[in-house]
Amino acid sequence: MGVLERMDYPQEGLPKGANPDWTISQGFERYSAAEHQTWTTLYERQAEILPGRACAAFLHGLDALDLHGHGIPDFRSLNEKLSSLTGWRVVAVPGLVPDAVFFDHLANRRFPAANFIRGAGELDYLQEPDIFHDVFGHVPMLTDPIFADYMQAYGKGGLRAVSLGHLANLARLYWYTVEFGLLETSEGLRIYGAGIVSSKTESIFALNSASPNRIGFDLERVMRTLYRIDDFQQVYFVIPSLQDLLDVTTGTDFGPLYEKISLQTDIPIAAIEPYDKIFTRGTQDYARSGGRLRQGAA
Ligand code: PHE
Ligand code: FE
Repeated sequence: MGVLERMDYPQEGLPKGANPDWTISQGFERYSAAEHQTWTTLYERQAEILPGRACAAFLHGLDALDLHGHGIPDFRSLNEKLSSLTGWRVVAVPGLVPDAVFFDHLANRRFPAANFIRGAGELDYLQEPDIFHDVFGHVPMLTDPIFADYMQAYGKGGLRAVSLGHLANLARLYWYTVEFGLLETSEGLRIYGAGIVSSKTESIFALNSASPNRIGFDLERVMRTLYRIDDFQQVYFVIPSLQDLLDVTTGTDFGPLYEKISLQTDIPIAAIEPYDKIFTRGTQDYARSGGRLRQGAA
């Protein structure tokens, strides 16, 4: 499932009642029984398929935060657990926030999460990230000390990319790691990306389908690669370890890299480059036959 993410969504002004940093109160008391049930339904679907698919850090995070299947979590108790583990906190926002606001939160170990949940009739596809995507998808990984550092470094890098005018390239790094990243383990490929792990259909597609390419992560290559926001990805990038991702991104000065990339062409989604380390050369059958729209129409 593709979700329209922060960096692609039209941004309007500060909503009425929001703080200057765009935070609002979660309004936990206002969720209806039906909304809690939607969370529980989504949770149970994922709990069934994620063992053996999600990476160990994600599954440990789910346990450590007790993100159980008993309704939407209350950010107050969630934050007690999360902050004691890695110093991160979840803050409620009305939805997508401006880039600089988003990055400033990350740089200060605050993860902005939508406070609303999708309707019961749209469990599988949504245009705007909701609380299930934001909390179930993203927050477990923030209990991992290395990933916690990566997200904070990304926030700082985001503020820098905005000032340098190269956010589009940095957005691709977020997309292909934080949202749609795969991890190589001795037991096979595992999911760590929130966009995959919060979606039943893409959790299966990303690991089991013959359609997409799966390619070894290369920083410059990823920052040059286009992505799609409306359907399953046509390429997933595989990191050797979370530590490796942290090391290569924090150990590289992106300033010169942005300059270099700006002289190069973008890489089409399904392309294979001569230097790629190929885990799977995809058939691209799913995308070629019309993807989600075609399946929905069938
Ligand atoms: N090292 C990057 C820079 O020089 C910052 C960054 C770190 C970006 C980690 C993303 C992830 O801008
Ligand atoms: Fe997300």
